[in-house]
Amino acid sequence: MEIIIQPTPEAASIIAARHVARLVRDKPNAVLGLATGSTPLVMYRELVRMHKEQGLDFSQVTTFNLDEYVGLPTEHPASYHAFMWDNFFSHINVQRERVHIPDGLASHIPAFCRKYEEAIGAAGGIDLQVLGIGGDGHIGFNEPSSSLASRTRIKTLTAETRRDNAQAFGSPDKVPFHVITMGVGTIMDARQVIILAFGSKKAEAIAAAVEGPITAMVPASILQMHPVAQCIIDEAAATKLKRIEYYRWVYDRKPDWQKV
Ligand code: F6R
Repeated sequence: MEIIIQPTPEAASIIAARHVARLVRDKPNAVLGLATGSTPLVMYRELVRMHKEQGLDFSQVTTFNLDEYVGLPTEHPASYHAFMWDNFFSHINVQRERVHIPDGLASHIPAFCRKYEEAIGAAGGIDLQVLGIGGDGHIGFNEPSSSLASRTRIKTLTAETRRDNAQAFGSPDKVPFHVITMGVGTIMDARQVIILAFGSKKAEAIAAAVEGPITAMVPASILQMHPVAQCIIDEAAATKLKRIEYYRWVYDRKPDWQKV
């Protein structure tokens, strides 16, 4: 895994946006796997800027979001549908029919999840998956103890994640218990993965994911097995890494052709 430590969340987000933009320029019909939450917001803002100021073209891009709450209609302000349209899709030229977000109101959830996996396959697989990380090491909503081979399915959120996500709902009691999430195996099938983390609240999870043992108790640790994974973090999220000087050393000596 490549560890990229930047002074601020903004600097880290701009690097992540450049990775996405480079892919979209090289492969206009790229398939993007996308995350919600506070972490990727600045990356989306930068991609919107690139679309508006530099003509970055999303017209042939296909997207698949990681997850959605079960029981929320798409127009609910705390739904991930609303989040993605408000913060990203409405501001770029993506085609509505190429956007995929799990359906929290699916009447038969297992059948919906199978179809979601089939749709990813039919699109040619995910070229680049953007991830955040939970304080407990979750990716998507694969909470600790999730199978590292799991596929898209229903999961139950931990009390910690419900608390962390309460803001959009006004109170932790209103956060749904269940979500539909891509599995860890689904995420690992992406050709490239970028995991973002900002702030000291993510430092333990990042250290466990990057330097700890691979374990279902820290689902993000499976990214150690991914052939093209980048962990792009700010200083605060890097504070618990033991080999921090080595990661800086490697990044500072990157060959020019590898830089974005
Ligand atoms: C969101 C998702 C989650 C978040 C994680 C971090 O689609 O899959 O794994 O990335 O909970 O959330 P924030 O960024 O709000 O700290």
